[in-house]
Amino acid sequence: MRESILVLDFGGQYNQLIARRVRECNVYCEVHPYTMKIEEIKAMAPKGIILTGGPNSVYDMASPHAEPELFELGIPVLGICYGAQLMAWTLGGKVSTAPVSEYGKTEVMVSDKDGLLKDVSDRTIVWMSHTDYIEAVPEGFKATASTPVCPVAAMENDAKKLYAFQYHPEVTHSEEGMKMLSAFVYGPCGCKGDWKMDSFVESSIESIRQKVGDGKVLCALSGGVDSSVAAVLLSKAVGKQLTCVFVDHGLLRKNEGDEVEAIFGPEGNYDLNFIRVNAQQRFYDKLAGVTEPEAKRKIIGEEFIRVFEEEAKKIGAVDYLVQGTIYPDVIESGLGKSAVIKSHHNVGGLPDYVDFKEIIEPLRMLFKEEVRKAGLKLGLPENLVYRQPFPGPGLGVRIVGEVTAEKVKIVQDADAIYREEIAAAEAEGLIPAYGQPGALGQYFAALTNMRSVGVMGDFRTYDYAVALRAVTTSDFMTAESAHLPWEVIEKVTSRIVNEVDHVNRVFYDCTGKPPATIEFE
Ligand code: XMP
Repeated sequence: MRESILVLDFGGQYNQLIARRVRECNVYCEVHPYTMKIEEIKAMAPKGIILTGGPNSVYDMASPHAEPELFELGIPVLGICYGAQLMAWTLGGKVSTAPVSEYGKTEVMVSDKDGLLKDVSDRTIVWMSHTDYIEAVPEGFKATASTPVCPVAAMENDAKKLYAFQYHPEVTHSEEGMKMLSAFVYGPCGCKGDWKMDSFVESSIESIRQKVGDGKVLCALSGGVDSSVAAVLLSKAVGKQLTCVFVDHGLLRKNEGDEVEAIFGPEGNYDLNFIRVNAQQRFYDKLAGVTEPEAKRKIIGEEFIRVFEEEAKKIGAVDYLVQGTIYPDVIESGLGKSAVIKSHHNVGGLPDYVDFKEIIEPLRMLFKEEVRKAGLKLGLPENLVYRQPFPGPGLGVRIVGEVTAEKVKIVQDADAIYREEIAAAEAEGLIPAYGQPGALGQYFAALTNMRSVGVMGDFRTYDYAVALRAVTTSDFMTAESAHLPWEVIEKVTSRIVNEVDHVNRVFYDCTGKPPATIEFE
């Protein structure tokens, strides 16, 4: 059985990040809800278990708790933040509200280097985020690190292989966090580190080749990260047996259609059949006069399927249809049904007229970050690999009211400026870059349907207002409007009104989700 670490999710914001860090140690890792049954855990037989942080207080009986048996399985357990408090509380220690909350970079004093802190400095910076703390350790435990206000910043019971960190080793601000996680994974858990991206890429190519034989494969390429990486894997495996159909619905970001073609088309780097369908006008015609958001989504989704089907019919029967389903989709939608749900979300449903025998999902076992890594290994350019989430219906859900070619052009131009300036601000350190705490989850320009009076030179204008949106989010289910520096907003505003025709006002959307959504439709 492949060695693995199990992460039990107690609702913290860095859970996927913990899994990613473990995998960076070359150990396979899965995140499951904290409600996973002991029997299921035993069946999975992980080499170690990590309990994540979470927003609750462990002494509140309504909070998520763990079966005491979890700590008796003989499997090493590491509790992080809430997980640390949960371990202490469940095993008879004392957890209470700390006299002083700690948040952000904090120096801890390491007092014991027998266990997981063996390789870290005597004083080291970690990322704290807590209002409760462990006041007294359970029997058999010793505190191994502290801060002036937190007597138990870390604790261990080496005999039972139980460990706890009040801080977040997974966040990059914890300067020696990776050493601590790796000490857990390679120490008490005894992992060997057999999970590597190179070997994933190679073994996937090999197994796809075996499975497909000389069969024909069809892939709907959206230009997003998942479908692009899936397509490249398939192309490396079976070359011209793969046909990718890329439907340009005219609702992509500025230049995106051409960028996708440059990578996958005849001038690109990959061996495959690439078909770009320029269906822009067809979508605009269907959308003419339609203002209701759900109606627009439905039209875009359905039209997408029709265009795809028409192309598929031309190709004739194929053996396999490729889907870019990734691991979080599998978890979210329950094993087995994932393909259907994901494609539903992306393009409005599975085509009912594509003649295929089986679905291939080469990325089913990967997290988004790993899909990105695989993409880089496979030679995809960074700007594609680090693309932010983009909805299937594209700019159709970022234009309020009727969608027209003119409005699409306005929002494309404004959005391109906004993205350029955000990238510049990240590079200058004005806002946290990708992967850092507080980094933006999603940001884009949208077109409000509002026109108002302005003045340009000596002339009165009556033009559109663009809305800028930027959110931080951990799971896209809720989100906060990001506190962008005013100088960034100011610069973007000035560039948009000067460079984009028909825009004379720019708004910043300060609303969180709920009550708003992330998209602006
Ligand atoms: P909302 O607007 O619902 O968005 O807060 C949450 C996340 O989902 C993305 N989104 C979509 N993604 N097809 C997609 O593939 C869609 O129809 C769709 N609608 C919203 C959105 O960009 C955000 O990341």
